[in-house]
Amino acid sequence: MSRVLTGIQSSGKPHLGNLLGAILPAIELANAQSAPAFLFIADLHALTTIRDPAQLQENTYAVAATWLACGLDPERHVFFRQSDVPEVTELTWYLGCLAPYPMLANAHSFKEKAERLAEVSAGLFTYPVLMAADILLYQADLVPVGKDQKQHLEMTRDLAGAFNRTYGETFKLPEPVFREEVMVLPGIDGRKMSKSYGNTLDVLGDLETLHKRVKRIVTDPTPVEAPKDPQKCIVFQLYSVVAPPEAVEEMRQRYLAGGYGYGQAKEALFEALKTRFAAQREAYLHWSQDRVALEKVLQQGAAKARAEAQKTLSEVRRKVGVRPVAVSFS
Ligand code: TYM
Repeated sequence: MSRVLTGIQSSGKPHLGNLLGAILPAIELANAQSAPAFLFIADLHALTTIRDPAQLQENTYAVAATWLACGLDPERHVFFRQSDVPEVTELTWYLGCLAPYPMLANAHSFKEKAERLAEVSAGLFTYPVLMAADILLYQADLVPVGKDQKQHLEMTRDLAGAFNRTYGETFKLPEPVFREEVMVLPGIDGRKMSKSYGNTLDVLGDLETLHKRVKRIVTDPTPVEAPKDPQKCIVFQLYSVVAPPEAVEEMRQRYLAGGYGYGQAKEALFEALKTRFAAQREAYLHWSQDRVALEKVLQQGAAKARAEAQKTLSEVRRKVGVRPVAVSFS
């Protein structure tokens, strides 16, 4: 009986990379277990980039609506908002006291910004510790994530090991689960699809905008009539993860044969995205317009998550030597 856990930051509306790299595989993996999974919206992590409270809430509801539109069953699994379980920030502190500076300084998320240190907040620097706390608080076994999170999972295991060695066996060591074919999905400019690069495809939003974005995917100047290498083309890479296998093979042959232009490939990709996510797009529209229903779902999930979190945290408090919270001082 494995406990699956994963989170999505509410730094914007989820994009195709989030859907294929995390949300859909997580739901599939969660449904394959008999135990409920822990799936959440990492709004505290989003505070490292979002400073507008209304925007943070907007994004949080967008992420919630996406999970539900993609088929997450909130009765069967524990679906919640990270900040509704404040125990996670306390565990972050205990783990942070065991996190060596060089480990955090080696994190990709920090190193990317290391040349502009004035822009690095303590929150960004200790981001991996909060993520470790997310995972360890709920004693997760399996963590489905995109490849970009590999290092964070290694740090989580290191911190769990450090805690267990220091205070005695407490935490399970979680295993990451990656999907080979969509390890790192490219965005429309060929870099990793990411909100921070502005190169995402929003497949649950308005179709006209999606169509325009697909047309903007960067391609090389090979003329229509010339044969093309499908592996080097972002349009083909994206098509191959959303279209049925026979259609992908057909496109591959067309690339190799020549006489098939990138414009045609982009139209095929747009159609594939439209079809593949039609049901989710409709469900997203429904959920995103009903915040009362979203709140209800999230609060029910928070109650279940919190009960679990308090169990772990009271053991942690005892082990590190601080008193239980609910004790009176008389
Ligand atoms: P975030 O919000 O950046 O991304 C959410 C998930 O989507 C995956 N992903 C991608 N997969 C494939 N191709 C891409 N281009 C792509 N972009 C994003 C990410 O790998 C991730 O699985 N720190 C995490 C959120 C988090 C978390 C956790 C995850 C907080 N606590 C605990 C797991 C467990 C993050 O920023 O993901």
